[in-house]
Amino acid sequence: MPSTSVRFPTVKVYDHPLIQHKLTILRDRRTGHEQFRVLLNQIAGLMAYEVSRNLPVRTLAVETPVARTTGTELASPTTIVPILRAGLAMMDGLLALFPEARVGHIGIYRDEKTAKPVTYYAKLPPDIADGPAIVVDPMLATGGSAAHAVDILKERGVRDIRMMCLVAAPEGVEALVRAHPELPIHVAAIDERLNERFYIVPGLGDAGDRIFGTQ
Ligand code: PRP
Ligand code: URA
Repeated sequence: MPSTSVRFPTVKVYDHPLIQHKLTILRDRRTGHEQFRVLLNQIAGLMAYEVSRNLPVRTLAVETPVARTTGTELASPTTIVPILRAGLAMMDGLLALFPEARVGHIGIYRDEKTAKPVTYYAKLPPDIADGPAIVVDPMLATGGSAAHAVDILKERGVRDIRMMCLVAAPEGVEALVRAHPELPIHVAAIDERLNERFYIVPGLGDAGDRIFGTQ
């Protein structure tokens, strides 16, 4: 079970040894993009179990080879929404556990000078509001990209929105909580701070570059 952050009650921190072990390898500057992608997907899969814990279900009858009984199934279609680019690298891990999920894409990059989010793409299921949405991005730095992605989903009428990320800065968590106080935020680590270039310290560097080998 993740622990609830003392400072931010809507934030769950995944202090599980397996997740922290893999995260430490991701932080290591010597870790190359191939291993980075594998580990990031593995962590996403481990976190998915808790992120999906209270998804709405409905009961249904099922015939086993022995008897008729009552089971449950997911009540509404879930949409996973990776923020491009880096969020894409958590999708294989999530879809392995969640093959029936739909995938909506939101493209956002940070302006290099201002660190303000710039949206360049959004392709979402037209009926996305009919079920929960899980926004996925490994990095929550200023919180601008995540807050903006949640704005887009709210504009489309989505009511059950969950945020899943790997490493967050306290400044980013605070900003996201301020913008969306009801939003559950799932994170593997809350680091020390942002630096003057709005990078997370200690963080793991530029996630997109490390995932795709573009640095
Ligand atoms: C990174 C990261 C987040 C964003 C976080 O993306 O994947 O989307 O920065 O920063 P914020 O909390 O300050 O908004 P980036 O802008 O580097 O784009 P990329 O994934 O296309 O490289
Ligand atoms: N985006 C990243 O990929 N890393 C950071 O530390 C901040 C924003």
